[in-house]
Formats: sequence, structure tokens, C-alpha cells
Amino acid sequence: MASVTVLITGATSGIGLSLFEEYVNAGHQVIACGRNKEKLSTLSQRGAQVCAFDVTVPQSIKQNTESIGELDLLILNAGDCIYIDDVMKFDGQSFANVIGTNLTSIGWLLQYLLPKVKRGGQVVLVSSSATILPFPRSEAYGASKAGLDYLANSLRLDIAKYGIDVTLVHPGFVKTPLTDKNDFPMPFLLTSEQAAKRMFKGIQSRKKYLHFPKRLTLLLKLFSYLPAVVWQSIILRNHTT
Ligand SMILES: NC(=O)c1ccc[n+]([C@@H]2O[C@H](COP(=O)([O-])OP(=O)(O)OC[C@H]3O[C@@H](n4cnc5c(N)ncnc54)[C@H](OP(=O)(O)O)[C@@H]3O)[C@@H](O)[C@H]2O)c1
Repeated sequence: MASVTVLITGATSGIGLSLFEEYVNAGHQVIACGRNKEKLSTLSQRGAQVCAFDVTVPQSIKQNTESIGELDLLILNAGDCIYIDDVMKFDGQSFANVIGTNLTSIGWLLQYLLPKVKRGGQVVLVSSSATILPFPRSEAYGASKAGLDYLANSLRLDIAKYGIDVTLVHPGFVKTPLTDKNDFPMPFLLTSEQAAKRMFKGIQSRKKYLHFPKRLTLLLKLFSYLPAVVWQSIILRNHTT
């Protein structure tokens, strides 16, 4: 495959960092984004162009991406997860922060970066398999990613006429700093390298929808077809916190 220019948000850690490795090792031009300047400087030593900005600060996205040229591939992967630990003391600020980082940011990133994506290019949105079924304590994270699913599917309809494809990604559990804080069982946990390899291959095949590992995502889909009372009791039984 000819070399492409790919911008990755959240390239300083976890899935984004492993994706960075996949694309660099395959000889592509990578623009790595994140907030952590120390990690970004390590990535620049690997030949990447780097951009430091907080995805929740539109002015910073604008300033730091102005000089970027045309993109073949835009991977919007940066995200965060905060659980709602005590639902009766619902933390509205945490809720707003998660929606801001995982969903509202995508609007700003599309405003400043979508015009740079070439005809024939591709936009990849990293959502979560958590949107297949609701999980406890995931009111904020799940809502942000469910919003992202809708955004991706709607965006696909509107940008098809510009020759740009949209790939929506639903990873299952992947071992990263984001999941290291989870205190519940994470079935079929993948390494970030395994996740990135699946994503690299699926993105290259221009899949509209990528979900993995299938042994988890297909099981969740199957549960979602059962009556709500059945999957609710299964989830609550397996999710004690
Ligand atoms: N791990 C999983 O099991 C899993 C499952 C499903 C979906 N996902 C999704 O996959 C994506 C990557 O997650 P991960 O597990 O790889 O997490 P991670 O290791 O915690 O990495 C998160 C990345 O996002 C960046 N980021 C977070 N907030 C940001 C902000 N406000 N501005 C700019 N960059 C920001 C971080 O950059 P800095 O540290 O440089 O700020 C970091 O590079 C997320 O969207 C997550 O929701 C993960």
C-alpha cells in the first residue's frame, strides 16, 4: 500500500500509541496528537509530526492544526472514562467532562480537521462496545459513546458525496491505562497491540463498522436481542461493585 498521511488523536497512550506503531512501522506519515508533551517528543524522535492540544479546547485545536496539510486518514481516538460511582450523588461535572472529552470534542475536531481530509480519504471514530448494552456506572461514558455512534452513522450519510468513508470502531476490553483502573472482570481482554492490529487491518479494508473481539461483541449483541429483564439480570449478576 502506498504511504498515506494519518492523524491520530490520543496517540500518546494505549490503543492510540499502538496504532501509531502500526502506521509508522508500515511506512506511513503519522501526525501524532495528545496533551503529554514528553510522550509526544518521544514520538517525534520516531519521525512523526506531533501536535499538542487538549481536544476540549477548540482554540487550541485550531491553532495547533492550522499548518497541517492534506490528510488521507483521520483517526479520532482520544477519550476518557469516568464512572458514576454514587448514582444518588450524581456528579454532573464528571458527566459534562466525559461528554466534553468523548463527544463534544469530536465536533470541534471535525470543524478543524475534516476540511483537510482528501477525496478518497477516511474518518475513523473510536467508540466502544459498551454501546451495545448499557453497563452499570457507565451513564456518562456510555452516553458519550452512544452519541458518537449516532454521529458516525449520520456523518457517513453526509460525507459520502465528498468521497470520504467513515469507519466506526467498537473495541471490547483492551488493557491500557484507561482500563487499568477498572475493578471488575474484563472478559476477553486484549492487549493494545492486538487491538491496533485489528483496527489497522479493518481500516485498510475500509470497513464501515469494526468490532472486536467478536467473542465478546457478538455475545453482547445476542444478549441485546433477549428481553431486557434477562440481560439486565445477567449484567447485574456479573458486575458487582
Ligand atoms: N481500553 C479499552 O478497553 C477501550 C474499550 C473501548 C473503547 N476505548 C476507547 O479507545 C480510545 C483510547 O482509549 P485507551 O484505552 O487507549 O485510553 P488511554 O490509554 O487512557 O489513552 C487515552 C488517550 O487519549 C488522550 N486524551 C484523553 N483526554 C484528552 C484530551 N482532553 N485532550 C487530548 N487528548 C486526550 C490521551 O492523551 P494525553 O495523555 O497525552 O492527554 C491518551 O493519548 C478512547 O476513546 C476509549 O474510550 C477503549
